[in-house]
Amino acid sequence: MTRVSIRRADFMMVLAYASDLATGHSRDFALKSCVLAMRIAELAGLSEQVRRNAYHQSMLRYVGCNADTDLLSATFGDEIALRQDLVGLDMGDRAELGRVFVQSFKRLYYDLDPDAQAKAIEAAMSQALAVARPVLTAHCEVAQRIGERLGLSDQIRRNLGQIYERWDGKGLPRGSSGEDVLPAVRLITLAQDAIALSEAAGIDRMAETIASRADGPYEAGLARLVSANSAVLMEGIGTTVDRETILALEPNPPVMLDEAACDEAFLAIADMIDMRMPFTLGHSRMVAELAEGGGARAGLPATDVQALRWAGCIHDIGELVVPVATWMRNGPLSVRERDAAQLHAYYGERALASFGRDGDAMAGLVLRHHERLDGSGYHRKVGGSDLSPAARILAAAEAFQTSREERPHRKAMSSEAAAAQLRTAVREGCICPDAAEAVLSFAGQPSRRAPPRPLAGMTSREIEVLRLIAAGLTAKEAARKLDISPKTADHHIQSVYSKIGVTTRAAAVLYAVEHSLIRPGETQV
Ligand SMILES: [Fe+2]
Ligand SMILES: [Fe+2]
Repeated sequence: MTRVSIRRADFMMVLAYASDLATGHSRDFALKSCVLAMRIAELAGLSEQVRRNAYHQSMLRYVGCNADTDLLSATFGDEIALRQDLVGLDMGDRAELGRVFVQSFKRLYYDLDPDAQAKAIEAAMSQALAVARPVLTAHCEVAQRIGERLGLSDQIRRNLGQIYERWDGKGLPRGSSGEDVLPAVRLITLAQDAIALSEAAGIDRMAETIASRADGPYEAGLARLVSANSAVLMEGIGTTVDRETILALEPNPPVMLDEAACDEAFLAIADMIDMRMPFTLGHSRMVAELAEGGGARAGLPATDVQALRWAGCIHDIGELVVPVATWMRNGPLSVRERDAAQLHAYYGERALASFGRDGDAMAGLVLRHHERLDGSGYHRKVGGSDLSPAARILAAAEAFQTSREERPHRKAMSSEAAAAQLRTAVREGCICPDAAEAVLSFAGQPSRRAPPRPLAGMTSREIEVLRLIAAGLTAKEAARKLDISPKTADHHIQSVYSKIGVTTRAAAVLYAVEHSLIRPGETQV
């Protein structure tokens, strides 16, 4: 097995992207706040420790935002629109907060006649704060738990427990004030509002508003510093932020995660995605388990099996862009809602950009997890030739697991009924028969046929070597990648050539392409 070593900051960028989707923030909002906060820290001469905490706080502040989302949605309607309205708002200003709540209730009760709407809004207003308070407290606790699973320090976790606290004591959950609000919390609250305000009204208006709120939500000295230096601080902060910028800002030394820590981080992301709705709890980790098990049963190379495990964890991360009410609807979606829902695979692929080349295999799987062999899936409607064996396994695992879970419009199926449904999809040409049988066999469902024979009798390791060689790596490079000696790699290559009946690399490449081990044009794996 190749040794795994991934920057923890890459995971934090994925989580930042996910929280930006779920909260209706602008693209790369959290990353922009990270850049700005580090500049403010530099200008204010803040300590290394505060910078370290702020670096993490900027990206993870809203990572607990999926807690109790169904409750928030039931009370306020479209929770993403509500959160969008709250961006940059001084939430200590009860009149402003009330105005945003009323706006939200008007959206929710749009179809009532004026009298009934007024009554419904009045009733909802009397409940609003009582609902919001525990939800916001849950955001802190969940953020802390996710931080723990990423292996963050106690200090950073303490900061995540204060995400809604303010300098003037009007925040939540404890109403801490002044110096009791941790320095990195003060810094990130200010930096994120500065980004939101400058995006909404421009840098000059942002500077005025920040100055006017000194000693309110923000510590006065810091607010004045930002206001007086707004142009310099905001210089070059565009609409997006690239990965390298964020990696370069990480306080030294950069934190690397080994395979076990990566597994835990992916599971933390899976749970973060699934906790948004009661009926999806545990969905992603089960898909990951089935996809990994199915991949192994099908004899896929170890790198594919690992990509399946991690892609399974993260496959529905793009769902966060769609309000919970849409997923919870017990009835047909509008065309626009359906389009938005189907794009979740695309947003999922985008989320994995933080991993750079390390995320390519996973991103390809996430992008295709609802595609079908006959082109009847979504969102790109590609068919068999664009679906690798691993992509077919993930699609089968996802479909099987989803059938076993309850949805608002139907009850959960038994494993037997879900297996029968998957086999029907195979007969209809939607799901790959080998993929379905591999997943079902792993899930303990009686097989309808003999398990698929490994390709040309090759071992998993040999298939892995073939993929690397076909992708253009030399024997030495393949050996390094797989953490084996060049001599062993050479031995595998000779064995592969003999089993597939070729003597040249070109013929081996062709074989790999024909058997979907590598796609045309792919030059690295
Ligand atoms: Fe899913
Ligand atoms: Fe999905």
